[in-house]
Amino acid sequence: MTVDQTRHSLDGRHRPMFIGGAWVEAASGQTMETRNPATGEIIATVPRGGKRDIERAVAAARNAFDGPWSRFKPHERQKLLLKIADLFERHWEEICVSDTTDMGLPIVRARGNANRVLGMLRYYAGMATAIHGQSIQNSLAGDIVSYTRKEPVGVVGAIIPWNAPTAASVWKIGPALATGCTVVLKPSEEAPLTPLLIAELMADAGVPDGVVNIVTGTGPEAGAPLAEHMGVDKIVFTGSTATGQSIVRASAGNLKRVSLELGGKSPVIVCADADLERAVPVAAMSVFANSGQICIAGSRLFVARSIHDEFVARLAAYAGALRIGNGIDPNTEIGPLISPRQLDRVQGYLRAGTEEGARLVAGGNRLSDGALAAGNFVAPTVFAGVSDIMRIAREEIFGPVISALSFDTLDEVVRRANDTPYGLAAGVFTRDLATAHQLSRRLHAGSVWVNTYHAIDPAVPFGGYKMSGYGREGGAEHLDEYLNTKGVFIRID
Ligand code: NAI
Ligand code: MG
Repeated sequence: MTVDQTRHSLDGRHRPMFIGGAWVEAASGQTMETRNPATGEIIATVPRGGKRDIERAVAAARNAFDGPWSRFKPHERQKLLLKIADLFERHWEEICVSDTTDMGLPIVRARGNANRVLGMLRYYAGMATAIHGQSIQNSLAGDIVSYTRKEPVGVVGAIIPWNAPTAASVWKIGPALATGCTVVLKPSEEAPLTPLLIAELMADAGVPDGVVNIVTGTGPEAGAPLAEHMGVDKIVFTGSTATGQSIVRASAGNLKRVSLELGGKSPVIVCADADLERAVPVAAMSVFANSGQICIAGSRLFVARSIHDEFVARLAAYAGALRIGNGIDPNTEIGPLISPRQLDRVQGYLRAGTEEGARLVAGGNRLSDGALAAGNFVAPTVFAGVSDIMRIAREEIFGPVISALSFDTLDEVVRRANDTPYGLAAGVFTRDLATAHQLSRRLHAGSVWVNTYHAIDPAVPFGGYKMSGYGREGGAEHLDEYLNTKGVFIRID
């Protein structure tokens, strides 16, 4: 059933999904609710898409891939991406309010992401005209010219989590538009509204029907059929390691290409010579930003023994001073967790930390005074006296919880920092150049930040080692994830 195209509004409205350029309902007719995690209120319903809707979206994406979209020249795709960036810029406040309302991100942080997200779109625009193969000299008998071509992989299935709907959508769709692929994106059931808004803005910018499709629904009902679909050439996924593993299994049917950005338990190492004025707030916000719902959260904080107590005291004071509340208030620094389920998970870790003998030095509880009672709020939490084997030091919590550990030597801290199944990111604070270089080299992680954290740039590759996934987003590697390389030989004698 097709419904009228509507402009976006978050006031108790039903929002259809977007397939083949039309705003449509689920084949089953079912819907699901999405809530504001700061207030618990239902803010909209969306279609509860399933296998039949995935079929329809993949068919639309295939038609578009084979159709006029395949004749778009690189400079035309570039122009489209630049137009999308301009439209996003004009509608940026609407995008921010959508993320704040649907997933709790403080509005000031959402606004602060403008440069990064618009920069991504403009970076892909530039890259659209920089895709090229190579002319390669060969050793064959006869006169044979050989060269490579870069070709779009085809229909890309994108599955994203709730924690950064705007950046994740752009990170998945942008390279598709740059390379000439088409996309079926399944947003998180917890935060589907901004991806729908993004699709609408892209259509307004002139993205042809079927090039970008959004199917709302749950992981098992809509995500799994997308991962299994024989007509999907590639899956790009961001989310938990367990779901990433099930996507790899689902991909085996047609051996589709997969790239995965998964969980982390990233170490932050504070050496005795670190500038504490800088290190304390950066280490704190490496976890507390987005209420800890960040894949790169620096949740294992290794502090040199000689400065450990002072560092932890300063960190606890910093955590205690953060302003927590509804993210729509511009004074709010820390918003809610996404859902009551996530609140339960995080509270489970707060109990586990205490039970396993860690020392609570800040937070440690749910916040339920006044208006906070209706939302999923947890106080920014610091545990000290943590040992490497505790659950809070090993498992991804995805909440505002820092586990502080102390260390004596660099060799020791490198070994302990690397002793994790994950390898997404690592942070180092030191004033010593040799230490900075040595640790950057020895830490097993896709990103290493020295005297900073969270730095992500459209031109710099980002992704995991080990069970944090494979494939890269950002930089030329990102576009390669969406391209096949073909070798061509032509006999000319
Ligand atoms: P999830 O990984 O299950 O969800 C991410 C996306 O995958 C969502 O769109 C979901 O609908 C979809 N999905 C779920 N099951 C699927 C399946 N079988 N096939 C295809 N798609 C599927 O993560 P969830 O349940 O939202 O969060 C649970 C925990 O996972 C969090 O507490 C956190 O520890 C971790 N997580 C880590 C993220 C990261 O970026 N490191 C992002 C999201 C979650
Ligand atoms: Mg929501």
